[in-house]
Amino acid sequence: MLILSELHEGLLVLTINRPEALNALNGEVIRALSEAIQAASTNNDVRALILTGSGEKAFVAGADIKEFAEFNAEQGRALAAQGQTALFDLVEQCPKPVIAAVNGYALGGGLELAMAAHIRIASENALLGLPEVSLGVIPGYGGTQRLPQLVGKGKAMEMILTARAIPASDALACGLVNAVVPQAELLNAAKQLAGQIMKNAPTALSAALKSVLAGYNRDGFGAEIEHFGACFETEDFREGTQAFIAKRKPQFPGK
Ligand code: CAA
Repeated sequence: MLILSELHEGLLVLTINRPEALNALNGEVIRALSEAIQAASTNNDVRALILTGSGEKAFVAGADIKEFAEFNAEQGRALAAQGQTALFDLVEQCPKPVIAAVNGYALGGGLELAMAAHIRIASENALLGLPEVSLGVIPGYGGTQRLPQLVGKGKAMEMILTARAIPASDALACGLVNAVVPQAELLNAAKQLAGQIMKNAPTALSAALKSVLAGYNRDGFGAEIEHFGACFETEDFREGTQAFIAKRKPQFPGK
């Protein structure tokens, strides 16, 4: 099962279960998670959701690099557009509160998934970042839009342009996560927070989510899809992805 699902007293915990690839988001995981979120959105028994990753090492280590390494620009654009519609927008627009319990690496598409959730709690060992430019591509699942929304433009530029991941303590300091707890307490902390939220009126929670999100402009997401796709025609992208697969340092030709 790629997505483990556990519903208890109105709280649905969805666990991305592909630990051998650090829960990287391939097409199958995206489809399965999308279906689970869609079902939860219309299930009256579900009042809040927690998203987490299986194992103790990773929340999600990104989009599956091996799956897209040979893509061309059109396929790259489609990857970003379909992923955004099928999963990331769906998470953000879920009418029920979604908490990401970030239990380790949240890189690239993994951090983008956590940022699409409404609230993030991280374990002390979590590392969060958008390393895409180190692969010759850019964040394509909403990262260029949601990171500046959460941490401000300057910090977002630093994180995106350096490709450096930051530890949970720094993520807390810049507002990228709402709380940091020891790993053994992560799920309980997320459940406690969900419990507090779930005491409130479901219709009001849904209205609050819609109202907060209504303030954010969507134009940037389309631009991100275009630029993400264009990266797939560069020699830098070929070099970056091949270097990752061959486990060596990239030598970017700059074109
Ligand atoms: N895609 C595909 N496979 C991945 C992966 C990913 N994003 N991240 C990890 N894996 C795989 C590794 O290839 C490895 O598989 P094998 O055992 O078959 O070699 C397995 O998961 C375990 O990973 P490592 O051996 O690399 O574990 P590590 O502890 O040495 O390193 C890590 C951990 C630093 C997270 C490293 O795995 C890593 O750098 N992963 C890639 C992170 C990344 O660049 N993410 C962004 C992806 S691009 C993206 O997300 C685009 C977008 O916005 C749409």
